[in-house]
Amino acid sequence: MNSIEVHNLTVAYQQLPVLWDVDFELPKGQIIGIVGPNGSGKSTLLKAIMELVPLSSGYVKILDKSLDQMRKHVAYVPQRETVDWNFPASVRDVVKMGRYQPGRLFKRLTDLDNQLVDEAIEKVKLTPFANRQIGQLSGGQQQRVFIARALAQGADVYLMDEPFVGVDVATEKAIMDLLQAMRDEGKTIVVVHHDLQAVTANFDYLVLLNTRLIAHGAIGDVLTSENLQATYGGQLNLFAQLQQIIQEKDFPIREKGFEDK
Ligand SMILES: Nc1ncnc2c1ncn2[C@@H]1O[C@H](COP(=O)(O)OP(=O)(O)OP(=O)(O)O)[C@@H](O)[C@H]1O
Ligand SMILES: [Mg+2]
Repeated sequence: MNSIEVHNLTVAYQQLPVLWDVDFELPKGQIIGIVGPNGSGKSTLLKAIMELVPLSSGYVKILDKSLDQMRKHVAYVPQRETVDWNFPASVRDVVKMGRYQPGRLFKRLTDLDNQLVDEAIEKVKLTPFANRQIGQLSGGQQQRVFIARALAQGADVYLMDEPFVGVDVATEKAIMDLLQAMRDEGKTIVVVHHDLQAVTANFDYLVLLNTRLIAHGAIGDVLTSENLQATYGGQLNLFAQLQQIIQEKDFPIREKGFEDK
């Protein structure tokens, strides 16, 4: 069974398509990177999977069912800029939202719910900030609040929009370890990431997107210079860097450039 299926998906804002006839299936139990230039439709793709934007055409399946049937099993971590950080909620309030069931919003959380909330906060190392208003956190701390909400939900499929933006190296490593541990428990984690090098080093599967689907598959199969050129087009500086990544992939033993450090 696939984790996510996207079929003939077209999404337009004011009649302008930003995703065009996108069609792919993603495996279960892997860390999957969604990569493409700014404005290529990555965030829109996650929003379309979550039915947060109207689809012009196509449909999405999650674990072979509709989102409505699977909502409890899918967790979404939005891109940081899209969150209203003035919202008067503490870290714990936001993470608790992961435990509320649709249609049972006013039901009190159980002791087990509260325990799962505390564990999720601990996993992203926000325990000292649990009672702080979310607007009064640093960027890297804010990034982790919504990861904790997703963890508290205990979902099977996680959609994360740029969770590594603005976090320091130690936090990046901690989040990466967390995602890999979740993957090893059989969870599926779909991550929009702009650092192709980090994706290559740590992820299992890659979706290259530029309004259209360029390629998808195991990292080693997808990372070709043709695919990267099709994804990043005229951005030549970037393209030179990507060429280097490919070279390193083809000749992993040479450790090119390593002696300079
Ligand atoms: N609400 C909106 N109304 C109109 N256009 C939008 C809206 N949201 C996004 N767009 C446009 O749709 C395109 C895709 O946006 P999207 O946010 O999906 O890109 P992205 O790949 O996530 O980019 P980034 O790397 O900058 O986060 C962009 O050209 C953007 O300007
Ligand atoms: Mg985006």
